[in-house]
Amino acid sequence: MQTLKDKVILITGANRGIGKSLVKSSLEKGARKIYATSRDLNKMPNFGDERVLLLELDITDNAQVLKVAEKTKDVEVLINNAGILSQGNILEGEISAVENNMNVNYYGTINMMRAFAPILEKNAPAKIVNMVSIVAYSSLPSLAGYSASKSALFSATQSVRIELAKKNIVVQAINPGAVATDMTKGMPFDMPSSDSVASLILDKVEEGELDIVPDEMGIGMFNAWKEEPSKLAEMFSNMYHGE
Ligand SMILES: NC(=O)c1ccc[n+]([C@@H]2O[C@H](COP(=O)([O-])OP(=O)(O)OC[C@H]3O[C@@H](n4cnc5c(N)ncnc54)[C@H](OP(=O)(O)O)[C@@H]3O)[C@@H](O)[C@H]2O)c1
Repeated sequence: MQTLKDKVILITGANRGIGKSLVKSSLEKGARKIYATSRDLNKMPNFGDERVLLLELDITDNAQVLKVAEKTKDVEVLINNAGILSQGNILEGEISAVENNMNVNYYGTINMMRAFAPILEKNAPAKIVNMVSIVAYSSLPSLAGYSASKSALFSATQSVRIELAKKNIVVQAINPGAVATDMTKGMPFDMPSSDSVASLILDKVEEGELDIVPDEMGIGMFNAWKEEPSKLAEMFSNMYHGE
């Protein structure tokens, strides 16, 4: 077990939602230092702990990513949490929504992994933790661009996992179903709080599980997919067509 105690952790999109909860959970786990990053520092909550250092970071701005990497050469655990959800199906949705999902969730996270891999290698044993989604396994058409970006991110995560396997860097994917945050506001199901899910995520991260599904809804969907991939596709078809 590689615990997070005394580790130096960087978390993207830390100003709200799951990212903010991951900062709080990392503090509870005894992290030595947490770089909490956000694209607008005015939106940052006060974490009330001097182990938290705030940095401005938009993951789609590669120059800024490289600048932040220059300042954070002691990072041992990189948590790529930042993400967006732009809704729309493939045939009628805005093409800009497809592009935006891809730019943040896929290309932005790739920027981070490329910038931080050499730092993590120097500081190994180390970890990369990518917030993916259960829709990486099967597309939900109302969120088609988001699903595609998360499938692409899951693929990149699996690739980097192998690329870094001999360098003592563990690469983990988090694939939640639904968590109560701004991203899922108004969705018609019961969802666990981001604080409770963040704590489960970090427990599993410490245990070294590679593909982590932290919530009940996600586990139900993942089990359906494991039994037979078409079962998850059928669940998503029923959700899409309101059946
Ligand atoms: N909530 C769920 O049910 C769920 C399920 C599966 C996966 N996830 C994933 O979990 C992660 C966190 O989601 P959440 O539910 O906490 O969403 P959220 O409440 O909407 O928070 C998203 C965070 O990402 C940041 N962000 C967006 N674009 C960014 C960029 N270009 N550069 C840096 N930061 C950026 C946001 O910053 P601003 O405040 O500046 O916009 C915000 O801090 C996402 O990757 C999401 O896809 C969530």
